[in-house]
Amino acid sequence: MKKYWHNCHIATMQNGRYSIIENAGLITEAEDIVWIGPATDAEAQLNSTSFQSIDMNGAWLTPGLIDCHTHSVFAGNRSIEFEQRLQGMSYADIAAQGGGIMSTVRATRMASEQELLAEAEQRIEQLRLEGVTSIEIKSGYGLDYLSERKMLRVIRQLAQKLPLTVKSTCLAAHALPPEYTGRSDDYIDYICIEMLPKLHEEQLVDAVDAFCEHLAFQPAQVERLFRTAKALGLNVKLHAEQLSSLGGSRLAAEYQALSADHLEYMTEDDVKAMAQSGTVAVLLPGAFYLLREKQYPPIQSLQQHGVAIALSTDLNPGTSPVLSLRLVMNMGCTLFSLTPEQALAGVTLYAARALGLEAQCGSLEVGKKADFVAWQIQHPAEISYWLGGDLSKRVIRHGQEVHF
Ligand code: NIG
Ligand code: FE
Repeated sequence: MKKYWHNCHIATMQNGRYSIIENAGLITEAEDIVWIGPATDAEAQLNSTSFQSIDMNGAWLTPGLIDCHTHSVFAGNRSIEFEQRLQGMSYADIAAQGGGIMSTVRATRMASEQELLAEAEQRIEQLRLEGVTSIEIKSGYGLDYLSERKMLRVIRQLAQKLPLTVKSTCLAAHALPPEYTGRSDDYIDYICIEMLPKLHEEQLVDAVDAFCEHLAFQPAQVERLFRTAKALGLNVKLHAEQLSSLGGSRLAAEYQALSADHLEYMTEDDVKAMAQSGTVAVLLPGAFYLLREKQYPPIQSLQQHGVAIALSTDLNPGTSPVLSLRLVMNMGCTLFSLTPEQALAGVTLYAARALGLEAQCGSLEVGKKADFVAWQIQHPAEISYWLGGDLSKRVIRHGQEVHF
């Protein structure tokens, strides 16, 4: 049966703008949007068919929020490192002493699938309560075949268990595991020749990511990984230019990456390359804020060149223990000078594009999934404006209201 959602206003986010329809109506059938427009035009669509009528009580409808870069499956936490950084140690110092990513790797290798699943579910619950209906989750705290596989299996289980669209990204090239000390090229070979083909065959991988940085992997190594990924038919993404400028974002653009993420240290040439390939710039203001970074990503230049900008929590235990995508929207505005409209586009349409999901979600348009949030607010800018606290809302995914 069709459902007619009415007594609402809609920010469709078509073309990355609010694209507002006031006094609107939305018709869904099963999982999909089949009509959207001014309520006064809805009757013609509905006569002679039976439908369920749902009063939205004057709410503002937006697309369901999309968190397009998370490391939300992990064990333990690193609050001690937060303390150490505030006593003067840098993220790189901590990593050099065997902490950082490796400390989470040790904890994650020891955890069972059930433990990882239960912990991740609790974190993701916080995001879902805010209106998140799609999420990307990376592996990268296993760094050997069985441990990466364990993480990726948990990611697939989350997709089964929760009313949530989940994309899984293999980030085996996140850090050099201790077994390969001094042999980073051999580790890349191991990923390319053994790990990735097997994980792909088990259908555990939707995309491939790497950490391109002095304390992780060099562009030439990332390029080998990208070639392997492409040969397997997988999309690529990259952690690039977070702490220094290595040209990773340009490399990502060359390989038609869905996104390059972080980008504080990117150059003008990198921006141009990304504009040309249509690679989305995923900005992560939570990591920027928590590392007390001083170097800003080149926002103006990205905008001038027409690079689509997405925002995400980067939810991870080291640099971004951030459990709120709305807080990230607020930071996108206050720290990175985005407008609330741009921030909303960054967690809807452009986040969908960063995941290769644009045909399915990210805006409210006929033919897309009926994933939306109905907010009790006066204007969509409020979604970025309020800091802390919860906003009254209803969440609908694939045409069904989600109950918490
Ligand atoms: O996106 N930059 C690399 N990866 C993560 C941090 C992971 C960690 O510190 O555990 C990030 O910031
Ligand atoms: Fe990350």
